[in-house]
Amino acid sequence: MSQYSAITGWGMYVPEKVMTNADMERIVETSDEWITSRTGIKQRHVAAPNETASTLSIAAARQALERAGIEGKDLGLIIVATVSADYPFPSTANLVQHALGAQCGAFDMQAACSGFLYSLSIAHQFIANGSVKHALVIGVEVLSRVVDYTDRATCVLFGDGAGAVVLSASDQPGGLLGFTIGSDGARPDLLWIPTGGSAEPATEQTIRDRRNFVQMQGSEVFKFATRVMGTAMEEALANAGMTADDMDLFIPHQANLRIIEAASKRLNLPSEKVFVNIQDYGNTSAAAIPIALCEAIDQGRVYPGAHLGMVAFGAGLTWAAAVVQWTAPIATQENSYKAAKAGVKTGTHAEQEKVQV
Ligand code: ACO
Repeated sequence: MSQYSAITGWGMYVPEKVMTNADMERIVETSDEWITSRTGIKQRHVAAPNETASTLSIAAARQALERAGIEGKDLGLIIVATVSADYPFPSTANLVQHALGAQCGAFDMQAACSGFLYSLSIAHQFIANGSVKHALVIGVEVLSRVVDYTDRATCVLFGDGAGAVVLSASDQPGGLLGFTIGSDGARPDLLWIPTGGSAEPATEQTIRDRRNFVQMQGSEVFKFATRVMGTAMEEALANAGMTADDMDLFIPHQANLRIIEAASKRLNLPSEKVFVNIQDYGNTSAAAIPIALCEAIDQGRVYPGAHLGMVAFGAGLTWAAAVVQWTAPIATQENSYKAAKAGVKTGTHAEQEKVQV
């Protein structure tokens, strides 16, 4: 029975179309100065009419599978974290499973912005107990379809995109070392879409009242987020037997630069240990962390042996955090050096498996 679950593949996809803050100024009463100073956001990507949560997911997933050196048929589980699925049902994961030629269980996971880390912790259970060898975990949102573009307090914040990882069974120490998930459903109205579920089915009136779009009490969510980001990260670190000092890179949910800065301060992290890309994507909810992970890898900030801390908060309210020791090879000379220093084996996952045979 395998003990460890390691990220062996990763991929991301964002729609081509970009909406800058100047574009937002043309839609609602706002300014680049307000958006930048309050949130850190400069632009966000917006899906084309023919793009959906499943098409974005499939593009990100194909990259992740290729990097892991496996095919869809090798997957034992698919989880898609999203609040902007193609349909209320069937699940987006069903559509992804078919497109990838996978023959495994597939389901959607709904914990808003915390969904990707929730899903990672679920996939880990399947791997750690030996029932699955490779799991695909996707975070995806097409929030442009559920955001009210007449509400300046929310529409400037959100963007579309997808990120995916393959989590694989491994005998090599590392991978997902600790996590935490949390929920407080006392105030669902702090961030929600009121209409469209069994509580308030859509009627002409609810649609006229724009209750089929995201509504948010921004400052309440802000206060919750600044508190929970630090405590959740500390809890996951403690579960891994670590402290914030042991983190090599902090990859927080990208909702607001000021929230990221408050969490980093609480964790006493210098800015070079904190990954930020909110300026380019806005808040892509469940997709934000896997997209940030992919970009951190591209920028050479992730290397075998590195300890990554990831934390998110979201509607619900929900929160989640995870600690991952990176084990997959990332081909740069500097990384080989750092990996050797950390005593970590390199080579693709498939190559490592061959060595073990
Ligand atoms: N442009 C200009 N002015 C604006 C805009 C805008 N886009 N939006 C709001 N304002 C105005 C408000 O109307 C208000 O004006 P008033 O004082 O005349 O009433 C003023 O700016 C201040 O509004 P606040 O809400 O107090 O501004 P705040 O500093 O709290 O920043 C923000 C607002 C950015 C939304 C912040 O509260 C925030 O980031 N909250 C957390 C939101 C979040 O992260 N949500 C995602 C959760 S994750 C998920 O699951 C999707």
